[in-house]
Amino acid sequence: MKILIINGPNLNLLGVREPGIYGKESMDSYLPRLRGCYPDIDIEYFQSNVEGELINKMQEVGFSYDGIVLNAGAYTHTSIAILDCIRSLRTPVVEVHISNVNDREEYRRHSMIGPGCKGTIQGFGLDSYRLAIEALLGQR
Ligand code: DQA
Repeated sequence: MKILIINGPNLNLLGVREPGIYGKESMDSYLPRLRGCYPDIDIEYFQSNVEGELINKMQEVGFSYDGIVLNAGAYTHTSIAILDCIRSLRTPVVEVHISNVNDREEYRRHSMIGPGCKGTIQGFGLDSYRLAIEALLGQR
């Protein structure tokens, strides 16, 4: 089984960026632990601050991988292009947020990409990524 985790803009700064909201752990430190939980799953990771690069990567794997776990960062709230991309793929996409976006600013409460996704996991810190993998496993 192959799963791709995609992080969008500013999520390369996890551990440094607003630690009160996103925690103190970096993705580099979290990923080996996550992979250790699922030795039989190939968990690939991709991060970009560039919208088109996120789309290119999703198109690249979106007809062959078993799942995409997508934290599109702020593009979540604005990107019709990412929504269109998700809807074009065969691979199911789970939307993820580290923070509980419903308990933050009004402008974070709407997800542009949500309607194209299988579902959303949010508010559980970095554990949101693991829960999204569990959700994908449950879909099989
Ligand atoms: C986020 C929430 C978004 O509103 C924000 O723009 C992010 C991170 C989260 O993981 O909580 O960059 O997607």
